[in-house]
Amino acid sequence: DIEGFAFDMDGVLADTARFHAIAWHQIADEVGTVWDDELAEALKGIDRMGSLKLILEHGNVAEKYDAAARDALATKKNDNYRNLIATLTPADALPGMLDFLESLQTAGYKMSIASASKNAPFIVERLGMQKYFDAIVDPASLSAGKPDPAIFIAAAAAIELAPEKVIGLEDSAAGIKSINAAGELSIGIGDSKVLHEADLNFATTADVTLARIKATLD
Ligand code: BG6
Ligand code: MG
Repeated sequence: DIEGFAFDMDGVLADTARFHAIAWHQIADEVGTVWDDELAEALKGIDRMGSLKLILEHGNVAEKYDAAARDALATKKNDNYRNLIATLTPADALPGMLDFLESLQTAGYKMSIASASKNAPFIVERLGMQKYFDAIVDPASLSAGKPDPAIFIAAAAAIELAPEKVIGLEDSAAGIKSINAAGELSIGIGDSKVLHEADLNFATTADVTLARIKATLD
């Protein structure tokens, strides 16, 4: 039986995937990488330095940027991103998510956050969601980012559950791979073609309810 839920944050709880895309688009323009929807999709779930590496490789300019230059670009991206998220409020929770979290808490499920973002504690607080979560995994503590299973394994351990007792929710292909490899049940939120490896799929966050999840599990 399922006893807990591990949540991705950007694009699942918070409408912040668009802010990451805006801030990375600026960096892509600066280094001369052509920005398109496919690149934006490929960056979802990927940690900061990994995203920058993909952008540089996509533009065939990786060899032009050493470690110090990459740090400078990543810092610039994060400064721009922080300006965009500074004004987040509970109204920026994605549709239905506050109700969903409330229903899970009422039903007694344990909940944790498995976000690649170092900004997760700040965003969760801005959205007024701290009260729902027993733990936020620190991505800096992990050996590897998504699609590696480490983050979803840590998210289950943080709420003292075996992975098979946990459902993971994700909006990225890399995240779904991470959940599956961790041995948890995966829920994809978004385009079912992009998230085709998910055990369950919902088109939007507004479609995700405990009743629907239970109905599909029975
Ligand atoms: C993930 C996002 O949640 O966090 C990625 O999907 C982002 O787009 C990653 O790169 C790292 O975020 P941050 O805030 O630490 O740069
Ligand atoms: Mg996400």
